Amino acid sequence: MVSEVKLSDYTITVERGLMSTIGERVRKAAPAHRYAVITDSNVEPLYGDKVLKTFGNTQVDLITIPAGESHKTRETWAEVTDRLITTGFGRDTTIVALGGGVVGDLAGFVAATFMRGVPFVQVPTTLLSMIDASVGGKTGVDTPAGKNLVGSFHQPAAVLADPQVLATLAFNELRGGFAEAIKHGVIADALYFGNIEKALPKLISVDGVKSNDMLSLITRSIEIKADIVSQDEREHGLRKILNFGHTVGHAVELLSGYTLLHGEAIAIGMVVESRIAEQSGIAEAGTSQRIRDLLVKAELPTELPESMGAEEITVAMRTDKKAREGEVEYALPKRIGEMARSKKGHYSHSIRNSFN
Ligand SMILES: NC(=O)c1ccc[n+]([C@@H]2O[C@H](COP(=O)([O-])OP(=O)(O)OC[C@H]3O[C@@H](n4cnc5c(N)ncnc54)[C@H](O)[C@@H]3O)[C@@H](O)[C@H]2O)c1
Ligand SMILES: [Zn+2]
Repeated sequence: MVSEVKLSDYTITVERGLMSTIGERVRKAAPAHRYAVITDSNVEPLYGDKVLKTFGNTQVDLITIPAGESHKTRETWAEVTDRLITTGFGRDTTIVALGGGVVGDLAGFVAATFMRGVPFVQVPTTLLSMIDASVGGKTGVDTPAGKNLVGSFHQPAAVLADPQVLATLAFNELRGGFAEAIKHGVIADALYFGNIEKALPKLISVDGVKSNDMLSLITRSIEIKADIVSQDEREHGLRKILNFGHTVGHAVELLSGYTLLHGEAIAIGMVVESRIAEQSGIAEAGTSQRIRDLLVKAELPTELPESMGAEEITVAMRTDKKAREGEVEYALPKRIGEMARSKKGHYSHSIRNSFN
């Protein structure tokens, strides 16, 4: 089973076993004199050699950065860029990002800036990077002041996703990705949400990861995100709906000192925000419960950690760039599959004292 999602400038291919033909596909999508595959220290021992071999006689270098968000920095960007310069890479280069969202964002930013921009191909290896980070063209790095504060929009020449590699992914990373897939169902497609309800919990088993259901899930999530970002490339309106669960989720992620994974924090955020939506009369009764039940099926957390009080979360949300003057902005569902619009037609809702 193969599926392709065609965007205006490039194609996203989801195919089991695609990892063994990366080189020829990259050469076709973004021909270059020389290729640099950027990966991280966890992915390299698993897939580095395998991917390099698929390039045959073509000139290709493997550049490995240390794994983890703490290395998605300007320093790593500078090291990788310097390495390209000192080893003689020129304008006729294609960069391949082989890894999760950290590698995708960093390698994408290297590609966006090296020689004022060279083509790059995304080979996402986590569920989150397949269905979220590799779609939309956002690249960048963190700074000590916060996440993703420096970056650029740079669309890939192609995205190549092989669901089979999810078999080596840690379980908590896998279910973290599910939080975003469930979010896609809530914000845009009730049928998809229902399909995930049916396919779980089998989908998160070892066999489930390699199943057609998994391939369909990845494809549908990519379609939903691609559809939203193509209607709103620079984040003015519709793209806001992708923030569902993220206002509370980001605060929870921050207050946990990043001990909660992004997807885990977002799962809690979706439950809390859909509850707020029901209490404000924005969402149909029962919406929050159905979201919660599905998250439980995906073995994701759904309750705020006891250590976190309402006040603390409210303060953390207000320091979020989306908050202003005591009101907190949320993207909220109307029902499963449909987001609510404000009276002005916007997808953001300013709500005061949401936690009281
Ligand atoms: N650009 C965007 O639009 C966008 C959207 C969402 C998230 N992001 C970014 O994505 C990042 C998070 O991405 P992530 O969750 O993929 O994290 P990640 O890249 O840190 O990967 C998670 C862990 O899994 C390991 N790993 C990756 N693939 C593996 C595999 N197949 N088998 C075994 N281990 C594997 C990695 O080495 C890492 O330790 C964040 O930096 C976030 O800001 C970007
Ligand atoms: Zn997210």
